[in-house]
Amino acid sequence: MHILHVVGARPNFMKAAPVLRALSAYPEVRQTLVHTGQHYDASMSDVFFRQLEMPEADVNLGVGSGTHGQQTAAVMTAFEPVVIERKPDLVLVYGDVNSTLAAALVCAKLAVPVGHVEAGLRSRDRSMPEEINRLLTDRLSDLLFTPSEDGDQNLLHEGIPQSRIHFVGNVMIDTLVRLLPKADANLPDAVTTPYALVTLHRPSNVDDLAWLRDLLATLSDLSGHLSVIFPVHPRTRQRLRDLGAGDSTKLRLLEPLPYLEFIGLQRRATMVITDSGGIQEETTFLGVPCLTVRENTERPITISLGTNQLVGRDLQKLRSSAEVILQQKRMPQQDENKPVPLWDGHAAERVARIIVRSSSD
Ligand code: UD1
Repeated sequence: MHILHVVGARPNFMKAAPVLRALSAYPEVRQTLVHTGQHYDASMSDVFFRQLEMPEADVNLGVGSGTHGQQTAAVMTAFEPVVIERKPDLVLVYGDVNSTLAAALVCAKLAVPVGHVEAGLRSRDRSMPEEINRLLTDRLSDLLFTPSEDGDQNLLHEGIPQSRIHFVGNVMIDTLVRLLPKADANLPDAVTTPYALVTLHRPSNVDDLAWLRDLLATLSDLSGHLSVIFPVHPRTRQRLRDLGAGDSTKLRLLEPLPYLEFIGLQRRATMVITDSGGIQEETTFLGVPCLTVRENTERPITISLGTNQLVGRDLQKLRSSAEVILQQKRMPQQDENKPVPLWDGHAAERVARIIVRSSSD
């Protein structure tokens, strides 16, 4: 059986790594790894391949940046001949980035079966490009692997047959479980004082410069109480330049961090302030308080079972929620959260078993 994996952007890598590893245990499976090149900076891509111990990509489509239409079309144009030439039996796509949808669409048109890892998540906010990617990728997929049971419910609700849906758990947590011990050994320049860890990259937060300026001012106020460490995504770096905010803020602005350094910092943070999807899940697993600067989340389980709170576009709420966390003097590594079903480090093994079994049906 020939399985082709498509990855393109930073959040794909930690999801594909455990699935590649789990499938390599089956001698009957041959694997090909395609990198679309959506993320191309060494700090957004190469270092992740190394730390996650992923094989080098067999093919790099080198698509780079562009508008959504350009980027999606560039992946489709470059990926189609690869599928025609390599004739995979199944293509696996991950998460909700433009590369995910582009690859799924190419395969659907060529009648090549698609498996979607991290299926079924819904924010119900179609102004998010990722929501469009999630909806359409799930519609086109033959095997849908969900990280949590709300995903199954969403898919059933949309009329996707139960037989295609497989609740396997969270493959990204597989990577976290495997690499946490290494992360602890790899801590970046010992951070001794309490700190908040911040990441922001969603267009809704960083492309609105007036909002971004106010958000940065709120974070600067917070830095009067504890350090604020902010590894900056390339898109956000550009916007900070546009604002002339650069290094003049009181925040500790860093380059994007490698995986091990980032999860090491996350684990010890007093709180995390973010608009990322994956970080809501990682903080849930780690039991670290998380304030999500979004109006909605496609990962409601991080709120019902985890430590996540939505603060929306309400800076007063951000301020008061941060104060509550500070007053509780919560220490990092508190383990108050409840375990999330099947976020147990073995999700990718379940994915692999289902794929191999379904190929012999
Ligand atoms: C993408 C995903 C988002 C994911 C995020 C994680 C989509 C629609 N969005 O958003 O879901 O959470 O990745 O990082 O697919 N850039 C660089 N170097 C890089 C990559 C990007 O400089 O290696 C710059 C480019 O100027 C580009 C901008 O960042 O225009 C945005 O990159 P892009 O991949 O289009 O979207 P992200 O914002 O990274």
